[in-house]
Amino acid sequence: MRILVTGSEGFLGKVLCRQLLDDAHEVIGYDIANGNDILDVSQLRTAMTDCDVCIHLAAIADLYIAEHQPELARNLNINATKSLLGIAEELDIRVLFASTVCAYGNNGVAVCVEESPLAPTEVYAESKAEAEQLFHGKLSNHAILRLATFYGPNMRSSLATSIFIEALKNDEQIHIHGNGLQTRCYTHVEDIASGIITVMNSQQNGIYNISSDEEMNVIDLIELIAVLMNKTANMVHVEDRFGQIKKSKISSKKLQKLGWKPKYNLKSGLKTCI
Ligand SMILES: NC(=O)c1ccc[n+]([C@@H]2O[C@H](COP(=O)([O-])OP(=O)(O)OC[C@H]3O[C@@H](n4cnc5c(N)ncnc54)[C@H](O)[C@@H]3O)[C@@H](O)[C@H]2O)c1
Repeated sequence: MRILVTGSEGFLGKVLCRQLLDDAHEVIGYDIANGNDILDVSQLRTAMTDCDVCIHLAAIADLYIAEHQPELARNLNINATKSLLGIAEELDIRVLFASTVCAYGNNGVAVCVEESPLAPTEVYAESKAEAEQLFHGKLSNHAILRLATFYGPNMRSSLATSIFIEALKNDEQIHIHGNGLQTRCYTHVEDIASGIITVMNSQQNGIYNISSDEEMNVIDLIELIAVLMNKTANMVHVEDRFGQIKKSKISSKKLQKLGWKPKYNLKSGLKTCI
């Protein structure tokens, strides 16, 4: 297949493009880092022409940048997605859209499935939840992928897992926002990429969570990393982050029914990036 990947130079984009190439697909990378702007509708249309699928990853993916530059985040995460979807409908291209499990926010649901209500708590998650609405009524042709918090080698330095590893490496104090009991289902980037490809190959559309089922709180995560690095963690609690999601347990049963299984658990996955 001929596949356009937006955000191809990002953390996930690079891993996904490599897996797609390994599967012998023709991959067209589209990233501002290479001068390809998703806000440039005519450039985007030219790149999308003759593609079978568009995997749309390009976004403001950093919560802090989104919080401080909400206009930019909304423009990229919502408006550019709207133009991309419009071109895709016109050219009959299937879109797989990278959303986030952050969109479930603090919805009070013990284990989030695809039908669980969305309750975003900050600008980034709000922008993704709003972009999802663009697909309503069109989900027989396209898929929304709600990705869990991911980690892996070469991750962005602003991601919590990277911050913890660096602090432990340098014997620095680790700042924990709030009580540290907030949970996430940390998922290896290779498993996120293989989940996206599983949905793509299945020809199934609709909404899919892509997440490990290993829920862990921040303190336990830091302690696990410290053990793996043979270090002692020096943790200090600081003020909680605005919009903190208290608990995030995600079900990927729907995706597993398509044959996806994560390759890594948290312990083996963390070893790949320490
Ligand atoms: N990192 C996570 O834990 C996580 C979790 C859930 C969902 N997601 C989503 O997955 C996707 C990929 O995340 P990531 O961590 O790889 O992010 P990233 O920031 O590493 O990659 C995003 C890429 O988009 C590109 N980009 C930005 N503006 C652009 C523009 N105007 N035109 C073209 N390209 C542009 C950037 O150059 C970058 O390479 C995003 O949509 C993100 O919201 C990420």
